Amino acid sequence: GIKIVTIGGGSSYTPELLEGFIKRYDKLPVRELWLVDIEEGKEKLEIVGNLAKRMIEKADLPIEVHLTLDRRAALKDADFVTTQFRVGLLDARAKDEKIPLSHGVLGQETNGPGGLFKGLRTIPVILDIVKDIKELCPNAWLVNFTNPAGMVTEAVLRYTDHKNIVGLCNVPIGIEMGIAKLLDIDHSRIRIDFAGLNHMVYGLDVYVDGVSVKDKVIDLLSNPENSSFVKNIEGQGWEPEFIRALNALTCPYHLYYYKSDEMLQKELKNFEEGTTRAEVVKKLEEELFELYKDPNLAIKPPQLEQRGGAYYSDAAVRLISSIYNDERDIQPVNTINNGAIASIPYDSAVEVSCVITKEGPKPIINGDLPVAVRGLVQQIKSFERVGADAAVTGNYDTALLAMTINPLVPSDKIGKAILDEMLEAHKDHLPKF
Ligand code: NAD
Ligand code: G6P
Ligand code: MN
Ligand code: MN
Repeated sequence: GIKIVTIGGGSSYTPELLEGFIKRYDKLPVRELWLVDIEEGKEKLEIVGNLAKRMIEKADLPIEVHLTLDRRAALKDADFVTTQFRVGLLDARAKDEKIPLSHGVLGQETNGPGGLFKGLRTIPVILDIVKDIKELCPNAWLVNFTNPAGMVTEAVLRYTDHKNIVGLCNVPIGIEMGIAKLLDIDHSRIRIDFAGLNHMVYGLDVYVDGVSVKDKVIDLLSNPENSSFVKNIEGQGWEPEFIRALNALTCPYHLYYYKSDEMLQKELKNFEEGTTRAEVVKKLEEELFELYKDPNLAIKPPQLEQRGGAYYSDAAVRLISSIYNDERDIQPVNTINNGAIASIPYDSAVEVSCVITKEGPKPIINGDLPVAVRGLVQQIKSFERVGADAAVTGNYDTALLAMTINPLVPSDKIGKAILDEMLEAHKDHLPKF
């Protein structure tokens, strides 16, 4: 039977994952699901684990759910390892958002200085996890959901010899679902050629039943309601002339780069009002865990859709199922570039539409990005690479370099001030520095 290990099992997204495994059980007969967490997450693990067990019981499926704080015991002979952990929990995220904002710079979980620091905290942990995988389940596929997913996948690809890793984000599937809804058709009829990086991905074309509807969809993106397909980012319409000239589908995170000032002003206002995303999510999470405690609840509650990671389970479970079944369908994932995008290094992680096989994802994208987007993508890739190097080495100058080459950071001096304050604030989770 299939053994799945989920690291960060106490996450409020776990019921989403369970729903996915239950829905796809016929194709993906999971026998064991091990939810792993750490001491600080013990209570959450207990609550969400018990809900998971009730969900399995209700679905009447022979899946064993194990809850543990012993990662190595869980990993023994695993087939798939999924990671959804948050080093330093939401308190660390709040610092990632607030410290840059206090210097007038965007504060966000996966972009700018916040993204860098989430990477610096997370990469040493993922490299430890990979060490355990090499020893205890060397053939397992690692499906990494932990942010910043691009930088984290990059670090595993370049700093370990574990090649069975796929980075995953719900943004591409969210865009597919959102566009299907706008066009009022079933999402199975839509295909988007995705290319770029995690949270920096473009749709180079979009088809309905194999016929391009790109022009129509690009027009729709001028409407504020249609420019974000995730709950954590508020939509803001593109200038119609801009989006037509760009001639590609954007992802919600592009708002931070092509509407930097508007997004910063909005974030600064949230900061003043005490409603940065970490603060909003803290409240949402408390409400969710209150619901999860209800012994009569045995489904994923709809309130979870308030979180940014909607469709995560669909993305994760359809990926695992397609690897397991050698399905050869097309899915957008983060994988090694190997020349799929000419202007990105061969050994880097890219987010591209891929054929999913039992040997892993094979990119279907070939050639290069349009010249108008190529430079920004390369810039973000350089940031991710240097950021990963800083995380692995603990080198201060490298961290400052990553900080300053990020396009959301306006100067080396401001970058240094933010870096110093964040190194101090996060020191408990930065053993390398
Ligand atoms: P969360 O704050 O609920 O954390 C999940 C769990 O991780 C917690 O129970 C915590 O105790 C545990 N944890 C922390 N450090 C750990 C460690 N070293 N080993 C094992 N467990 C550990 O976080 P969340 O909101 O559920 O998000 C989880 C992760 O998924 C985050 O990194 C987030 O950025 C990411 N995420 C990614 C996407 C995507 O598109 N890829 C979408 C949503 C969330
Ligand atoms: C998104 C992304 C994630 C992001 C998350 C935030 O859409 O794809 O990578 O981190 O949702 O959601 P949250 O509810 O935690 O703010
Ligand atoms: Mn994401
Ligand atoms: Mn800069």
